[in-house]
Amino acid sequence: MSPTEPWVQEGHATVHGHRLYWKSVGGSGPAGTVVMLHGGPGATHDYLAPFSDLARHGYRVVFYDQIGCGRSDRAESAEEYSVDRDVEDLNELREVLALDRFHLVGSSYGGLLAIGYTLAHPEPVKTLVSVSGLADVPLAVQEMQRLKRELPPSIHSVLERHESKGEYQHPEYLAAVHEFYRRHLCRLPVWPAELAYSLEHTSIPKYGTMNGPNEFTIVGTLRDYDATPRLREIRTPTLVTVGRYDEVTPRVARSIHEQISGSELRVFDESSHTAFWEERSRYFAALRGFLSRHP
Ligand code: ALA
Repeated sequence: MSPTEPWVQEGHATVHGHRLYWKSVGGSGPAGTVVMLHGGPGATHDYLAPFSDLARHGYRVVFYDQIGCGRSDRAESAEEYSVDRDVEDLNELREVLALDRFHLVGSSYGGLLAIGYTLAHPEPVKTLVSVSGLADVPLAVQEMQRLKRELPPSIHSVLERHESKGEYQHPEYLAAVHEFYRRHLCRLPVWPAELAYSLEHTSIPKYGTMNGPNEFTIVGTLRDYDATPRLREIRTPTLVTVGRYDEVTPRVARSIHEQISGSELRVFDESSHTAFWEERSRYFAALRGFLSRHP
């Protein structure tokens, strides 16, 4: 470790009988602890790497792979994968790692999970940050279907043709899916290695069970999930961030912002689903500003 590199620790914590991989960057974190929740559901923590930058500003940043994901244990059966399970795993992980109060930052499904955790266990959550997150899955799906219809007709027709035959793994279909992702998941011409890694290593059992064959085809157990009616219960200072071209659209972000009293909404005009990569310096200036207002 060079003197300028933040202190990194990692390990596995036993949570509800399964070993979950965790990594902490930034030592004791005099400015506070930030807990990071990845999306998917089923991705890995790796694509959230830019959030390590917060360690240079005095924060301790804790990443982990949710059950079934990355370097963590798989569940015995896919039926065990659920929002409730991920909420209670985070609560036990908090106890095992002796985290007291923390900023809770969730990307995409991680945003949905952060909201679910805050509703179930508000006490430890100092602030809540939804990074392209969602609360109302049917609304998010409706919006994704609109984005799909707005693709160039040549791409849209390929998607429709293969979907009508259930050919979700057809190479031509996958190429068309990638065109959607280039517009609405990450608009950088070359994807960061960490993002590519997380997508390539997404847990098929967890993603398939909870989400579906791809980002805009949410037919898994999450499809009817809607926490909107409970958002008004949240009293935690909240920041909602979204990209203008996000697959989880600005309308979805506004549906969260409008229900959480006092929340702040920040739209990144040159970004899609990964503004923390696509507009990295602007993103972290905004996030650090928010966190420093809630020390
Ligand atoms: N599949 C979306 C995500 O990235 C919701 O978590």
